[in-house]
Amino acid sequence: MLIVIVGGMFGDEGKGKIVSYIAVKDDVDVGVRAGVGTNAGHTVVYKNRTFKLRQVPSSFVNERCKLYIGPGVLVDVNVFMNEVNLLSLHGRVWIDGNCAIIEEYHKERDKSDPHLSKVVGTTGTGNGPAMEDRVRRIAKVCRDIELLKEFIDDVSLRVNEAIDKKEKVVIEGSQGTFLSLYHGTYPYVTSKDTTASAALSDVGVGPKKVDEVVVVFKSYITRVGGGPLENELSIEEAKRLNLLEYGTVTGRPRRVAPFNMKLAKRAVMLNSATQIAITKIDTLFTGASKVREYHKLPNEAKKFIEEIESELNVPVTLIGTGSETDDIIDLRDKKLRK
Ligand code: IMP
Ligand code: MG
Repeated sequence: MLIVIVGGMFGDEGKGKIVSYIAVKDDVDVGVRAGVGTNAGHTVVYKNRTFKLRQVPSSFVNERCKLYIGPGVLVDVNVFMNEVNLLSLHGRVWIDGNCAIIEEYHKERDKSDPHLSKVVGTTGTGNGPAMEDRVRRIAKVCRDIELLKEFIDDVSLRVNEAIDKKEKVVIEGSQGTFLSLYHGTYPYVTSKDTTASAALSDVGVGPKKVDEVVVVFKSYITRVGGGPLENELSIEEAKRLNLLEYGTVTGRPRRVAPFNMKLAKRAVMLNSATQIAITKIDTLFTGASKVREYHKLPNEAKKFIEEIESELNVPVTLIGTGSETDDIIDLRDKKLRK
């Protein structure tokens, strides 16, 4: 059983929360991180503790789950080692030997290059410049790094073996559909494709092995860095509506806009979504906070969900109602709908 989970907008949709919920609820065997690299910040709030992950899969909350980082993902050795130590992941996390390395000078270039830092507004984490070096085939890869020796494995092989053994596998994408180098708002995008197909390629799994593609949308849209954002709210308006957020990695205030059905439709198409997760519905609708059953949602919240479903023609199966991993309405069993 393979589930691919990706962001439907500009990142920060709440992928970490959705992945961690499924990892625990479905007792997932294998969690794999896809995506660009440490530019991502996936937030998981589990048993009252907040984790801000940039490198390892959000599935770590299930202590039984094996964790992998796919060969397409960039690795920052310090960030990786910090997360391994902080979360005591020795012996349950592996990196593919072909993951390329982010080095100090990549970060410096990311921050000093005026196009990257001022126009695109990158995260400054060195991901774009490391991707450049990878394309030029001069980047170092993980199998050459002594410190990583104990973590190196053939991740594509392990993940395919797990799928073939009918284990439960979750591939976790990073960023969001419209930050894709190919499908996003170029040039205000990240340094590679971020759709479900790219997540598969990051890991080395073919499309026929996929059972479900979950596209995660937040109840409203946020974006950090440059680029178009339709119906963007002023900072004052965002504050007034309690929608102002700050970046997990950069601390920058996020730009805010209302949910955008046109973009959502396109994200469904680009990822061939089979399920939709909607997060932070409690931020839009008072009375939705920490609700776990659909019928207990306020009517306006139900109307919002039902409109998304009918417009996108894909079932909304998970609804986030708070920051904790299990603050969620799980509608994957259709009988729970009423
Ligand atoms: P880069 O990925 O650091 O090169 O940044 C390129 C663009 O993608 C900038 O607008 C960043 O703010 C945005 N970006 C990259 N990663 C994330 C993420 O995980 N969440 C939100 N925005 C991101
Ligand atoms: Mg984030």
